[in-house]
Amino acid sequence: MSDIAATTDLPVRLIATSGPNATSVNEHAGAAAARARAGIHRGIDVGRMIRVDQAGEYGATRIYAGQLAVMGDRASHSAEITAMAREEDRHNAEFNALMTRRGVRPTILQPFWSAAGYTLGAVTALLGPEAAMACTAAVEEEIDRHYSDQLDELEMHGVCTDSADPELSDMIEDFREDERQHRDTALAHGAEKALGYPLLSGAIRLGCRAAIRLAERI
Ligand SMILES: [Fe+2]
Ligand SMILES: [Fe+2]
Repeated sequence: MSDIAATTDLPVRLIATSGPNATSVNEHAGAAAARARAGIHRGIDVGRMIRVDQAGEYGATRIYAGQLAVMGDRASHSAEITAMAREEDRHNAEFNALMTRRGVRPTILQPFWSAAGYTLGAVTALLGPEAAMACTAAVEEEIDRHYSDQLDELEMHGVCTDSADPELSDMIEDFREDERQHRDTALAHGAEKALGYPLLSGAIRLGCRAAIRLAERI
């Protein structure tokens, strides 16, 4: 083995693919590519992760659409909600594009998320601006937790400190930052002043967790 091959990973692979072990290495690469196409990397189902994330981001766009339909663009907090809705549109569009690139099927519950998200947004907006903010704070708290769990899982199945899927990890980290800001914006705009806040927040967070589990499976 050359000095270079002894100190780096890449030359070892280059030597193996042209040496006596070439067939087995190439077969291994073929199997890895087939697994990658199926969305399975290093023993984790990345396709399932992308499916639930896209469902969540789509649901978020519908929540804000429901809130804005009730509140209009001149109510207090409409500007904040409109800004957050734009970011959800970007998250959703990027997950849609990733799904297309990877050939991941969307959840078959898409029409349900559309109606459920819109209804949740509309109902909380009808309860008042603080309830609308309480909805955002609760949803984003759960999304933050969900994205953090996914990042841990991707890192756990990665190599050294690398993620098992760096492209997906980068997206999740980027979006998680936005979600945390949405939660902080909602808290800064009176989420906790909503009538029955602990009950409302608890119910929404429970619903989010159930939705995440459903979207992972169906
Ligand atoms: Fe989002
Ligand atoms: Fe968000």
